[in-house]
Amino acid sequence: MKLKIAVLPGDGIGPEIVAQALDVTKAVCKKFGHELTYETALVGAVAIDAVGNPYPGETHALCMESDAVLFGAIGSPKYDNDPSAKVRPEQGLLAMRKKLGLYANIRPVTTFPSLIHKSPLRADLIDGADFMCIRELTGGIYFGRPQGRSEDGETAYDTCVYSVEEIERIVRLAYDYALKRKKKLTIVDKANVLCTSRLWRQVSQRLEKEYPEVETEYMFVDNAAMQIIQWPKRFDVMVTENMFGDILTDEASVITGSLGMLPSASIGIHTSVFEPIHGSYPQAAGKDIANPLATILSAALMFEYAFDLPAEGKLIREAVDASMKAKVVTEDIAESGKAYKTSEVGQWIVNYINK
Ligand code: IPM
Ligand code: MN
Repeated sequence: MKLKIAVLPGDGIGPEIVAQALDVTKAVCKKFGHELTYETALVGAVAIDAVGNPYPGETHALCMESDAVLFGAIGSPKYDNDPSAKVRPEQGLLAMRKKLGLYANIRPVTTFPSLIHKSPLRADLIDGADFMCIRELTGGIYFGRPQGRSEDGETAYDTCVYSVEEIERIVRLAYDYALKRKKKLTIVDKANVLCTSRLWRQVSQRLEKEYPEVETEYMFVDNAAMQIIQWPKRFDVMVTENMFGDILTDEASVITGSLGMLPSASIGIHTSVFEPIHGSYPQAAGKDIANPLATILSAALMFEYAFDLPAEGKLIREAVDASMKAKVVTEDIAESGKAYKTSEVGQWIVNYINK
């Protein structure tokens, strides 16, 4: 198969982890006889520094003409510490999501046997946890207008907006995933307080009738935050709005043992984007110590979701499992023994695939 990918390393550790995921992608393509072409483009703080725009038109054009986007991370302390900055790296990520119509962000949460003891949660609670968090990605408070400050600067406001159409397409997608899994869907909202959440619930209650095979439950987000760590095995598919999903999935990464392990797929109207859920980890940038596994596992999702090549994705997962069994892991998940470099972990996985 001919595969064309756009590679967007972004900021901080982005370039290091994406380099490893790209090498893994190349190795898999070679093994399975796919013809891979790729082009790299700017996004985030590095794009602001170079051309003054965190998601330049050229980058968007490349994403649009590619079959998939492999994405690293966005964000820089230079902007985090300057709340008055007019252009922010994160705007690049949000613009990309909006322009590519990436309304669904899929974040699978699974445990790895060799990492269970790394989680601060009790092993018996998390062993075997396996659920999928589907986060709405192009609506809600991230994009709602008006947003801004009053003229005297004394007040600031964000607006949370959802339409029936936006809710319906993401909840339907969640039902389709639930049908392929254990047929249980948890719809997370704050319908006891928020008007948008009440619309989510109203739309969901209508759709629920169309999916009688799926057991539907509704849960308030505060309760969900508690249950995710108290009883993670009760979940199968969870769907929620943009900001709740952002927060709940960072929390859910604790089940996995490290934020450096959780991949994600953003899918929607145009080209899909595959990226780790963690940020740009600027403290580690350039040190070759960051965990590349979330990005490598995102490449696995790319083969599965964007190219419909499950065997290729499976081989990447197998290689990642093998690297953890062999204890070839970065410092965030290493035992008291040796911690390996980002590139050493990546190249070990490449060698495993080449075998
Ligand atoms: C994520 C990140 C982003 C988000 C930031 C970097 C804008 O935290 O992908 O989860 O909030 O969506
Ligand atoms: Mn986040």
